[in-house]
Amino acid sequence: MTILGISGSLRQGSTNALLLRAVAGLLPKGVTITVFDGLDDLPHFSPERDADHENGTAPLPSVARWRTAIDEADALLISTPEYAFGIPGVLKNALDWTVSTVLMDQKLVGVVSASPGYEGGQKAMASLLPTLTALNTRIPDGCSLVISSVRKKMDASGHITDEATNEALIKLAVRIVKG
Ligand code: FNR
Repeated sequence: MTILGISGSLRQGSTNALLLRAVAGLLPKGVTITVFDGLDDLPHFSPERDADHENGTAPLPSVARWRTAIDEADALLISTPEYAFGIPGVLKNALDWTVSTVLMDQKLVGVVSASPGYEGGQKAMASLLPTLTALNTRIPDGCSLVISSVRKKMDASGHITDEATNEALIKLAVRIVKG
């Protein structure tokens, strides 16, 4: 099984990107996670730029790469910060580039929102879930996790230092693998 990790943060040293890498070490044998590195290459979405499915032209290379990565993955694991009570524009933009496709239809998705704040990105999660529902993805019970005070729960290299968080991530990983 292959999981595509998607970080909603482009920041060097992003806690959300580090979390995805931490999950890589918690997965059962035979399950791998690759973190997608091309969200920043996607242009701002506009229907005119997304006309390839109507006029038969090839999609932009960055869009084709994003869509192929989704297509080739058995599941997606999104880990996102909260920006101004919502999800970062770069993540919403990337999701908008999938709307004209069927790639997300019944795609298995796990979602994490980590924040240094005590509410832990609850509003980002509350904003992301309806978008993923609109895309008709499949998010089984137990496949979403809000992590508060994240900087107290992992060190700078991404090692999870909080036992409860580690267990919650293992549970989430097992649940995604179960499908
Ligand atoms: C934030 N942050 C933030 N945190 C939060 O809990 N709720 C919020 O609404 C916001 N809004 C917000 C806006 C902007 C523009 C920035 C830069 C930051 C703080 C944010 O959670 C924190 O920077 C995280 O560490 C970002 O995640 P990464 O980059 O570490 O993955």
